Amino acid sequence: MTTPIKRIAISTGGGDAPGLNAVIQATTLAARNRGWDVVGIRDGFNGLMLPEEYPDGGLIELTRERIRGIIPLGGTILGSTNRGDPTAYPVQQPDGSWVEVDRTAELLDRFAEHRIDALVTVGGDGTLAIGNQLCEAGLRVVGVPKTIDNDLERTTSTFGFDSAVDFASECIDRLFSTATSHGRVIVVEVMGRYAGWIALHAGMASGVHAILIPEIPYRLEPVADVINARARRGSKYSIVCVAEGAKPVGGAHSIVGKSVGQAERLGGVGAKVAAGLEEMTGREARTVVLGHLLRGGSPTALDRLLGLRFGAAAVRALDEGHNGIMVALNPPTVDYVPLADVTRRQKTVPIDCDSILTARDMGISFGDEPASVGN
Ligand code: F6P
Repeated sequence: MTTPIKRIAISTGGGDAPGLNAVIQATTLAARNRGWDVVGIRDGFNGLMLPEEYPDGGLIELTRERIRGIIPLGGTILGSTNRGDPTAYPVQQPDGSWVEVDRTAELLDRFAEHRIDALVTVGGDGTLAIGNQLCEAGLRVVGVPKTIDNDLERTTSTFGFDSAVDFASECIDRLFSTATSHGRVIVVEVMGRYAGWIALHAGMASGVHAILIPEIPYRLEPVADVINARARRGSKYSIVCVAEGAKPVGGAHSIVGKSVGQAERLGGVGAKVAAGLEEMTGREARTVVLGHLLRGGSPTALDRLLGLRFGAAAVRALDEGHNGIMVALNPPTVDYVPLADVTRRQKTVPIDCDSILTARDMGISFGDEPASVGN
């Protein structure tokens, strides 16, 4: 029999995403309305593992007053990190080198010292995998899926994605007017890791002329064909939306580096595509990298609602005695799925999905067309 819950903790890990504060608010209220105490852990698990680094000891008492008015705020009031994996914690050695140390046992002791009965962990695949490991080590854990990339399995979508697509689309709309005025090619690089969801949705919503995504390795010739065909018809400008993880046929992802305890950092593909297209078409090509702008700002109403639904569902799941699950959108409901299932593979864009078919029907190039099409 599981012990009754009196106190829970919430942590937010990995890259921030609009909607995190909605999760924190709904989790806190749903828990407090059951008579439970709620604390927030600062910066992933660092608040518990490095308490001496925080003036408040690394834990925030989440009272009704503390969470008032946070739904529209971007980011996370708890802070986040993608360098604090307790199962492989980076520790610098006297000679300057780094080793990864498993601090799971120590972390579980801290949960016990603070009388925390269960954890709601909010994050992407890395954070949820850590949550699963903590659960296997004996902690009661419920996961909440978060990522602007929309690349998590077993949930129809994640909060943060709609806000990212909405803002990317607004930016691309603005690029249209300057590209038209100057007759330029503008290549817009957007985030998304190894999935093309943001590029596909934002590019289509803004009516770009080519979309390059990781799921469809590209050649630049078909894209140049589209640009040239448009110019011949009098449209001297073109807009290309490139996912940061897009790669050429037979080539690799474009990477800007990797630091200790972090995944490889994608970037630079937009500039490569622009340089190649300028050479092939003879038209001036510029690059705009939207990058972290897509993670910032106030969440859309859709992301706020999804965050609230996930937060409340996480508390309901704990109250019903669930453990080792993730709350997941399965319209019209929010389901519980095993945490272990979520991080096995990434959800990428099916290349025969309706959105891709629609884009192709509209003449949008994916860089894989055999012959000239044009839009
Ligand atoms: O997973 C979210 C995401 O924004 C990716 O799209 C991007 O590749 C990555 O995080 C960048 O993370 P950071 O710059 O914080 O290391």
